[in-house]
Formats: sequence, C-alpha cells, structure tokens
Amino acid sequence: MAEVPTSLVLRRPDDWHVHLRDGAMLRAVLPATARTFARAIVMPNLRPPVTSVDAAEAYRSRILESLPEGISFEPLMTAYLTDDLDPDELARGFAQDVFRAAKLYPANATTNSAAGVSDLSRISSVLTCMEAIDMPLLIHGEVTDPDVDVFDREALFIERHLKPLRQRHPRLRIVLEHITTEESAIYIREAYQSGDDRIAATITPHHLHLNRNAMFMGGLRSDFYCLPVVKRECHRRALVNAATSGLPCFFLGTDSAPHPRSGKESSCGCAGIFNSLHALESYAVIFEQENALGRLEGFASEHGPNFYRLPLNEDTVTLVRRDQQVPLKLREPPSPPTGEESLPETEWPVLFHGGEILPWSIECGC
Ligand code: DOR
Ligand code: ZN
Repeated sequence: MAEVPTSLVLRRPDDWHVHLRDGAMLRAVLPATARTFARAIVMPNLRPPVTSVDAAEAYRSRILESLPEGISFEPLMTAYLTDDLDPDELARGFAQDVFRAAKLYPANATTNSAAGVSDLSRISSVLTCMEAIDMPLLIHGEVTDPDVDVFDREALFIERHLKPLRQRHPRLRIVLEHITTEESAIYIREAYQSGDDRIAATITPHHLHLNRNAMFMGGLRSDFYCLPVVKRECHRRALVNAATSGLPCFFLGTDSAPHPRSGKESSCGCAGIFNSLHALESYAVIFEQENALGRLEGFASEHGPNFYRLPLNEDTVTLVRRDQQVPLKLREPPSPPTGEESLPETEWPVLFHGGEILPWSIECGC
C-alpha cells in the first residue's frame, strides 16, 4: 500500500457544471462554490431561462454582486437552447466572451427544462453555427420518451441522439454532462482512444459516491434524488474508473443543484443535490480509495480548462488529511442587501455528506 500523503497542494480547480440559482438562493450558495473553485460553468436553467446575451450579462452581474468581499471567482455563462434561439445571438454572445458554451436540455428532461429543445432537428442551424465558431455544446443526455425506463434514458440517448448528432456535426465540440452510466463512460473513453478529442464528460461527486440504493435506504430519500438518477453499483464503479483514469476526456463538474427544503420535501420532490461546499474533499475521498490521488489535479484543475481552451489557474488550494464533520445544512447564509429577502432558515438546503465525517479538509480558514 502506498503511503497516504498528509497534505496535497493542487492547482486551484474549476467547476465545469454548477447551478448557482438566483436571488436569495444565489447569495446563500455562491460562497460554497467560490470558496474552492476559481471559475465555474454556470447553468442557464433559471426561470425564465437565460436565452439572450443581455440576460446572461445581467445574470453574471448579479453573481458578481453576490460574491463575498475579497473572494475572486469568475462565472462562465451559458446559453439555454430553445427551439427558436437565433444562431446570431449565440454567435454574438460567444464572440463577446459572454456565452462560453450552450446548453441542450431536451424539453422536460429535468428542472426548468420545459422551454428546452423538443427535437434536435429544430436546432440544426444553431448546431451548424456552433460547429463553425467552435462553441462547445453541453448536453443533458437523457431521452424524454415516457415509455423508456428512467434508468435507461441516458444509455438510449447515446444511441438515439448523440451518435447521429455527431455524424451530422463531426467538428462540434461536446461535453456530455454528469454522466451516470457505464455506457457513457465507455463511449467517451473509446472516442478519446480513437483520437477524437472533441467530446468529453463531466462527473459529479454524488454519482461517484452513490448507487441507486441510496434513494431507498430505510425510506424514500429525496436528498439523493437527482437527474440523471443515480444508477446500479456497476455504473458507479465504471464512473469511478473513468474519473480516476487520468484520461483528459473526464473532468470535474459538480452539478451542485440546491433546492429549498420545501422543494425537496414534497410529494413531487425536485431533482438536485447540493454538494458544492465539500465537493473537492468528496472527490478526494474517491481518488484516495482508488490510490489515485496523484490524478486528482488533472481531473479537477487541468482537463477542464484544456477542453475549454482556457488558461490553467495559477493559484493553489491545499487539501489536508484532517477529519471534518459536515454539518447537515448550509451554515447561516449571508444576510441580504437592504430591502431584499433572505432565505428562511426552514428552506436552507441540506448538504451532500451532511452528518458524515470527511477525512480531507481544505486549508484556508474558511
Ligand atoms: O438533479 C438535477 N438538478 N439535474 C438537472 O439536470 C437539473 C438540476 C437542477 O437544476 O435542479
Ligand atoms: Zn445540472
């Protein structure tokens, strides 16, 4: 057995997929991301969704205004694709570095996706434009056909939609987001091994830690419900192998998706796990289990920027091997600016790993 290091200095990581929300929830959860990550790809599934350059700029300003003083963090904005988004608007936003990528939600696949794309044929001019300007397409990869079992929706998406899409648009750069299955891990790995560096995948902490039993442990556990839903143990294992493989086609994306308690604890609970506060520590646990701590930096801090063609961060974070007790809920969110509403305590989101002891801590006094 190799000796476990007592501390690990890593190039500061980025989160290549996060939901920062808006208003009181944004103010509550943003410090959890900015504490660890230098940059984040911010999902556009607000209500209403972010479909214009103006809306993305305004959202970016609200994020920056919500940052605690003295913390540097760069939100990287995305456009929400709809059936009728104008390719010129997308290209303008990309040229101005406002949109870093565009997000494809198949209509009704997940939270706030009703305005998403009803059929890929409706956006072929948008995809042609993105291919031409080399703008990454971020995909929530699940079929929405109600006849398809919810556990099979991701694997079927690859066959029904992703493979044909890549044949129609071979130069398009794609991130298959928050992969949850062995089929996705194999598909991405094989593409990379065949010399294709135009597709990559993000992997969340929760899909590395949980299998589907977690949702039914002693009762119905909405805190472990997210989309795509967590799968069987063999899929979790495949994701762990992919994340810790060192291959540049796999990188960090937390898909941290906070919801108010009333949204989770409901007869129709929302999908989403809020994991950003301890995400890096959570990934470290998995990499340590696999004896792959030496590959954590690539996964967390290098493969993502390389895919997005952005510079690597120069500053560092230090993980120390020190137990930390994870609180059940977010600590008190910052107080709101005068005249604005705060998030009532009853609505504070529950933390992933809440109540557990994690063996790694970030050394920064925050
Ligand atoms: O679990 C999820 N929550 N998956 C998604 O795709 C959306 C996200 C959200 O916005 O809550
Ligand atoms: Zn997401």
